[in-house]
Amino acid sequence: MSVNSDFLARAEKVFVGGVNSPVRSFRRVEGKPLIIKRAQGAFIEDVEGKKYLDLVMSYGPHLFGHHYDPILKTLAKTLEEGLCYGMTSEREIQWGEKMLSFLPPRWKVRALSSGTEACMTAIRLARGYTGRDVIVKCSGHYHGHVDSLLFDAGSGLATLSEESVPDSAGVPQSLGKLLKIIPFNDVSALEKVFNEFGEQIAAFIFEPIMGNMGVVLPEENFLKKARELTQKHKALLILDEVMTGFRVAKNSAWGRFDLQPDLVTFGKIVGGGSALSALAGDAKILDSLAPLGKVYQAGTLSGNPIGVSAGLAMLEEIDRCDPYPSLEKLGEKLEKTLQNVALKKGIQLSVVRCASMLSTHFRQEKPRNAVETRDIDYELYKKFFWSAVKHGVMLPPSPFEAYFLATAHCQHEDQLLSSFEKILSDI
Ligand SMILES: Cc1ncc(COP(=O)(O)O)c(C=O)c1O
Repeated sequence: MSVNSDFLARAEKVFVGGVNSPVRSFRRVEGKPLIIKRAQGAFIEDVEGKKYLDLVMSYGPHLFGHHYDPILKTLAKTLEEGLCYGMTSEREIQWGEKMLSFLPPRWKVRALSSGTEACMTAIRLARGYTGRDVIVKCSGHYHGHVDSLLFDAGSGLATLSEESVPDSAGVPQSLGKLLKIIPFNDVSALEKVFNEFGEQIAAFIFEPIMGNMGVVLPEENFLKKARELTQKHKALLILDEVMTGFRVAKNSAWGRFDLQPDLVTFGKIVGGGSALSALAGDAKILDSLAPLGKVYQAGTLSGNPIGVSAGLAMLEEIDRCDPYPSLEKLGEKLEKTLQNVALKKGIQLSVVRCASMLSTHFRQEKPRNAVETRDIDYELYKKFFWSAVKHGVMLPPSPFEAYFLATAHCQHEDQLLSSFEKILSDI
């Protein structure tokens, strides 16, 4: 038995399917998951000592790479001061002030522990603030495993979703009645839903760049319409920036696309690799949260010192070294390499990228929505994934997850680009 399968057998005895989050089971690529020992910079190392150039980057938090020194140094100081207090701390305030320095004036922020929790709180707040119950979401957009949002409708055509089916057992079908699901980038579906249900809609929540069915870019008129219709019908516009926040720009997707959302959820990068997320928005809306308002939300570990220290160090680094231009350059090179090699080899591949997040869709055209991202060659992604493993590159074990670049990859540009020539040649 190999060292990896030894660990795997132990993991399977203690964890369901050997994992604590389903994508880690490698089911989509039909293979045995790797067990990880450590990670440093651009690389991740498994328990057998094999190193991989890592493009998973823990699904997004590591903008600078693994084990980033400034974050670790700040954490080391925090550890001397205690793990959590159950009271507001000095560092927590510093993190909050830093967050607000990137956000519009007169906003406030609440620290929470996961992206799921931030989205769950955002829709509760929207319902409490507007006194309405209906939420509009996009097909294929993931907002964590919140009961009321764990619906997709399966096909973008099954819009206006009275008959939506939950994506998970245990989610009451009746919650679907409070949800309207439209295809991403479909302006007429958006208009239709607001025309029919406008007075009942508390909020429209969506990922400004779809990232959980593979990366799909938003169309400008869809974004414009989203703001226009929510404003007209007095519903809130919630951007789920758990993935895109501080990933696609210093002022996130809302700034990059010049949107003016009412609420924004953050996760991943805001915690610098620790369990921290955030809900931010106009103070007049956020003040509806307890203790000032009637919308309840609480957390034993909300704003814990480890989370806010790692998050603060991350945000300070973003300010200090502006990583976005170098990430953009590397992203562009990777996109071009993938596209050119695929063309040479006659492989149908469309690469969709925004800044340092990208996806390889094994299909001819760039997809516009979740129906199109499902219309891919799954077998080819599987081959691509295992070819990458063979050539020492770790990709997400599902065609529906994004790849993330970190500044640590910049020092390994040649290796990164030449690896993909080999990976694509082998499939
Ligand atoms: C856009 C988006 N929203 C929400 C979530 C849920 O975040 P978490 O896994 O931290 O609960 C994710 C997770 O990947 C996400 O990508």
